[in-house]
Amino acid sequence: MPSFKLDGQEIPFEPGDTIMRAAWRQGIEIPHYCWHPGLSVAANCRMCLVEIKAERPMMLPTLAWDESKKEFVPSAKPKLQPACQQMAVEGQEVFAKSKEAVHAQGSVQEFLLLNHPVDCPICDQAGECKLQDYWETSQGKLKRKMTEPVHKPKGVQFGPTIVYDAERCIMCTRCIRVNDEVVGDHVLDMRERGNKNEIVLSPGRQLDHDYTLMSEHVCPVGALTSRDFRFKARVWFLRAAPSVCQGCATGCNDFVDFDPRKNHVYRLRPRDNAAINKFWMCDDGMMSYTRVHEGRVTQGVIRNGDNKSTTAAEAIATAAKYLAKVDGKKVAVVLSAQSSTEDNLAAAKLAKDVFGTDKLYLAALGGWKADNILRNADNNPNRAGALRAAGGALKPLADLLKDVAAGTVEAVVALGWASTEDATQLSPLRKLVATVSLSSNVGPLTEVATIVVPVASFAEVDGTFVNAKGIAQKASRAISPPAGVKSAAETIQDLAKALGKTVAVAPADVQRVLTQEASA
Ligand code: SF4
Ligand code: SF4
Ligand code: FES
Repeated sequence: MPSFKLDGQEIPFEPGDTIMRAAWRQGIEIPHYCWHPGLSVAANCRMCLVEIKAERPMMLPTLAWDESKKEFVPSAKPKLQPACQQMAVEGQEVFAKSKEAVHAQGSVQEFLLLNHPVDCPICDQAGECKLQDYWETSQGKLKRKMTEPVHKPKGVQFGPTIVYDAERCIMCTRCIRVNDEVVGDHVLDMRERGNKNEIVLSPGRQLDHDYTLMSEHVCPVGALTSRDFRFKARVWFLRAAPSVCQGCATGCNDFVDFDPRKNHVYRLRPRDNAAINKFWMCDDGMMSYTRVHEGRVTQGVIRNGDNKSTTAAEAIATAAKYLAKVDGKKVAVVLSAQSSTEDNLAAAKLAKDVFGTDKLYLAALGGWKADNILRNADNNPNRAGALRAAGGALKPLADLLKDVAAGTVEAVVALGWASTEDATQLSPLRKLVATVSLSSNVGPLTEVATIVVPVASFAEVDGTFVNAKGIAQKASRAISPPAGVKSAAETIQDLAKALGKTVAVAPADVQRVLTQEASA
């Protein structure tokens, strides 16, 4: 592999790589604003200027102060090149930390801050802002400009999800490019020149497609903020758990950002994965974190006879009492395309090892608008994992309703909250000896259940999700479940125990299921 030297370090590169991209592949950051690994090169911010040593170096005529003559005299200095645009060349020597390069970075930084309001204390980007980072590393001096900065529009509503502050904008054009190049929608553009320029909406438009939050995601400063996240949390209090989006079968990789002091999830962010989502997520996926707290089931509910709230433990004991009255072969177990493979495997084992039933069904959401960017038509994150856990096909809930009508099902244990059918369609389940819903959220299945047992959500336990391409991915635990609430897999084990039986789901079991099916 060809290579070049960056500040003395050997950097391998692939043909077509720029200096910036080759350094980025090695985990080395050359200061930059406008460059983004997922977007075209604009080379407009000039923060990435580097010195390149060559046999015939490009030099710039300049004036230097001559102390003996007490005047400026003709001189020359290396002409710096933007690392984001300059191709990597075999054997070349590049300096991002030479005196000239460091001086240029400091000057560009000072220039970008000339008219900036520096309202960091009320800016949501504070703590993850490139202007703050590079002020620390490349400038570190007070602003010399003493005059009033240029004022521009603030708090501009770009659409239902994004607010724009033109005074904070450094005109890197990343937001324009992400809309043009990733979404294919030229909804943003730039107008005016020099210190008057600003980002504007195309005439008659709103920023309102399915990927609007990616404009905020790529903005390196606080010019674009998300209406959902702004003013809710300071990012230095947040921790990030690597996870998988629960929005659809693409399985975009993400970070769940949560405040451990409040046990609260505040947002999702894309996690780079070249094979799945590259650098992006759709808006519905980004907002799917709200399920962690909205419509949350935190207590058990028993509706056999009276309607009372109770602990998870009592709900399990009551469920076992009713399930014990039914012939195991007449118990139906419903797996969930929304639940992890671990939870689904426990449910499949409950059916086989505890009830000895082959009545296995799958609950899933009914699909949504797909596109050729990321969104999969199946808006369930783990249909493939549920099928693998069951070791074969699963019948839809429509078939369960037929079996209930035929009298071959007398009790149901159902995983998850989601189903294509609404509560009215599922109402025959209310009349069974027991319909036990193991769920983290309210949904049609919890509505018709005679016994609801709360279980941990995807953000509260580790879990594996298999996407539409058959790739198994781990979602890590971010926050703790409510007191007394366990994962669905553990809850199923407790239910089996209450029935005098055992369900064991070791990590090796999950691995075996995933590996066997993946190689099948
Ligand atoms: S709004 Fe942000 S991403 Fe867009 S040009 Fe300004 S600084 Fe760059
Ligand atoms: S495309 Fe699917 S997996 Fe990706 S962010 Fe959107 S909903 Fe989530
Ligand atoms: S990152 Fe190279 S010019 Fe902006």
